[in-house]
Amino acid sequence: MAGLLFSPIAMGPMTMKNRIVYPPMGTRYDITTARARAYYAERALGGCGLVIVEGTRVDNFADPQFVTALPALAQAIHRGGAKACVQMSHPPSLPDGEAIAPSAADSAREVTAAEIRNIQEKYALAAACLKKAGFDAAEVHGAHGYFFSQFFSPRANRRTDAYGGSLENRMRFARETVRLIRLVVGREFPLLYRMSADEFHPQGPGISDSQALAAALENDGVTALDVSAAIAGQTPSVTSPIRKAPEGTYAYLAALIKQVVRVPVIAVGRICRSEVAEQILASGQADLVAIGRQLLADPFWPKKVAEGRDGEVVACRYDNHLCLGNLNKQMPIACSVNPRAGREYEAPLPLPNEA
Ligand SMILES: Cc1cc2nc3c(=O)[nH]c(=O)nc-3n(C[C@H](O)[C@H](O)[C@H](O)COP(=O)(O)O)c2cc1C
Repeated sequence: MAGLLFSPIAMGPMTMKNRIVYPPMGTRYDITTARARAYYAERALGGCGLVIVEGTRVDNFADPQFVTALPALAQAIHRGGAKACVQMSHPPSLPDGEAIAPSAADSAREVTAAEIRNIQEKYALAAACLKKAGFDAAEVHGAHGYFFSQFFSPRANRRTDAYGGSLENRMRFARETVRLIRLVVGREFPLLYRMSADEFHPQGPGISDSQALAAALENDGVTALDVSAAIAGQTPSVTSPIRKAPEGTYAYLAALIKQVVRVPVIAVGRICRSEVAEQILASGQADLVAIGRQLLADPFWPKKVAEGRDGEVVACRYDNHLCLGNLNKQMPIACSVNPRAGREYEAPLPLPNEA
């Protein structure tokens, strides 16, 4: 099939075979298990160029058993035929369960400068572990109203030290973290940063602040920007827009970020038809497209589209019923149109070099 979707693209030293990214999507399968390996291998086998494994707490990387399980996950994704990345995230609590935030809110207390440094070091350690485990890239979860977003957003950051107040200060946590990761993993290891370019909140950072952050992070050494939007946890979800939202919901935000950087930019949000994906790439709104729930529903979307079999794609309903819905109930995700999702391990498909 002609077009940009199936043309290769470089992210630093990593070359992807096409422009299709499986974005980070929490599963609650436990990424150290055979269940998770089979699930992610099948997304790779379906033909996407890059699998970004779900948001994973940086605290986990201090656990030797967790770290030992990582190479098998990277291998499973590679054998499926995709490049492999993991999204690194920080929960709103310390390992002992104490709730923390950039500024005190609800039951959370303000993190100290020493704790900030400690958290940044955990990111660097996590990225180093991922590199050692054979992953091709790591991503910082800077989006959706979580820890990084809270530092960046005047909505949540009321600090009076060097990490709060001015735009420069609100960018400091993210910029220092990226620079520290770079220092530890070297200049070459691809490092992606996911941001909510617009929080859609009256006290949120807004587009021009997000453009400034993107440009600053490019200077600090990120290899690509993964441009999402909004604050998670709303019903219906805005980060994972439901069916009535336009297709390619947040591609316009990727385009605004692309105006100020040279590194590749990823667009996301209800990209379910190849025409829409091609249009986003052809119009220059983004360099890559992330296709989340549609690849949960049908991991073989890329292969089918590449072979001109679009009509055979099992369409996502975009009702968030068993994916986000299950996560909200603290349950592993499933899919209303793909009964195999999360059960791939019961009858795994042969991976190419196993066949
Ligand atoms: C079940 C589920 C889990 C998600 N988990 C994450 C996550 O761990 N990290 C993240 O940055 N985004 C997460 N997202 C957001 C997706 O990566 C994606 O941005 C969103 O679903 C929009 O893309 P789509 O319309 O192609 O699904 C999640 C979405 C869903 C539905």
